[in-house]
Amino acid sequence: LASTEVDISAIPEGQIVTVKWRGKPVFIRHRTAAEIKAAEDVPLADLPDPEPDSKRVHKPEWLVVIGVCTHLGCIPTGKEGAFNGWFCPCHGSTYDVSGRIRSGPAPSNLEVPQYAFISDNKIKIG
Ligand code: FES
Repeated sequence: LASTEVDISAIPEGQIVTVKWRGKPVFIRHRTAAEIKAAEDVPLADLPDPEPDSKRVHKPEWLVVIGVCTHLGCIPTGKEGAFNGWFCPCHGSTYDVSGRIRSGPAPSNLEVPQYAFISDNKIKIG
């Protein structure tokens, strides 16, 4: 199937759920108010791959990213690393709560897949 629907209503605030899409993990993170503020407050000049948080989300509460490190393809671990986003155990790249690369060898941000909200509680990825 090219697209997949996910019911996000059961994902509590602060939690990350991983779903499979086209054979890849996709992280769906229900961000807290503090996490949203942290993501929005980062100066773009601090980012190796500058992208405002607002360009990476459809709704600030929900971050959806492909869970594949942009260095060599390992799967990063959530809510770890200095920026409270993800930490890649392979070579130590760290990502922030917007999935943006902050340190380590990965060259770019975690990719945002094409997705849409089909209702308040459901997204369709792909
Ligand atoms: Fe993630 Fe190398 S694969 S840091």
